[in-house]
Amino acid sequence: MSEVRTGVRSLLSRPRVYDTWSRLVGGGRGRGRPLLITEHVHPGPGVRILDLGCGTAELLDHLPATSDYVGVDVSHAYIKQARERFGSRGEFRVGDATSIDDDLRDFDIVLAFGVLHHLDDAQARRLLDRAARALKPGGRAVTVDPVFTPEMSPIARYVIAHDRGQHVRGPDAYRALCDGTPFDVSVRVRTDVLRIPYAHCVMDCALGRPAD
Ligand SMILES: C[S@@+](CC[C@H](N)C(=O)[O-])C[C@H]1O[C@@H](n2cnc3c(N)ncnc32)[C@H](O)[C@@H]1O
Repeated sequence: MSEVRTGVRSLLSRPRVYDTWSRLVGGGRGRGRPLLITEHVHPGPGVRILDLGCGTAELLDHLPATSDYVGVDVSHAYIKQARERFGSRGEFRVGDATSIDDDLRDFDIVLAFGVLHHLDDAQARRLLDRAARALKPGGRAVTVDPVFTPEMSPIARYVIAHDRGQHVRGPDAYRALCDGTPFDVSVRVRTDVLRIPYAHCVMDCALGRPAD
């Protein structure tokens, strides 16, 4: 993972600061996560979800109470906070999302919100490969990351250029990460997720079912 951890951006590695920032810009209890869950994840009751790079697992606030949720994050501090806040509502593991444990299998949905832009191409491909292996036949993965586009506003470009992640890409480069995976991918750029000028690339990655 390559991440800027100097200056103001170092504060974001503190779980409470990250959650507060996320809420302020609208990613948390604002419209961001609910919109992404409703329009891209649409989880049904009892859905089995693997959240890669789960952070403090704030997504759980927007998932059905019956979800069978496993969150994995490389940060001990974020996982500690997730356990304190959500307890038995999910399972929370410290781990690298590019080499997850083999027992993480048979999920309906794998999520990686805000993770690929922290990973170089080889790491990101490994994450997507592991996501495909962790899914049931017919399962889906959804990734969400900041994106550079030619038409984005200068403010959005400035904000995204100062993200902690060092691998913000264009939509085509995000899509290319899925080359060689079994996913059927649809890519959408959204500028309506946060309250601030910003652009997100959402990849809906569907795993086919084996032919009868
Ligand atoms: C921008 S935060 C997003 C957190 C959460 N998904 C959310 O939507 O709030 C990116 C997260 O990815 C985690 N991360 C980065 N590289 C990782 C890796 N290789 N394995 C697991 N987690 C990773 C970071 O620790 C951080 O919690």
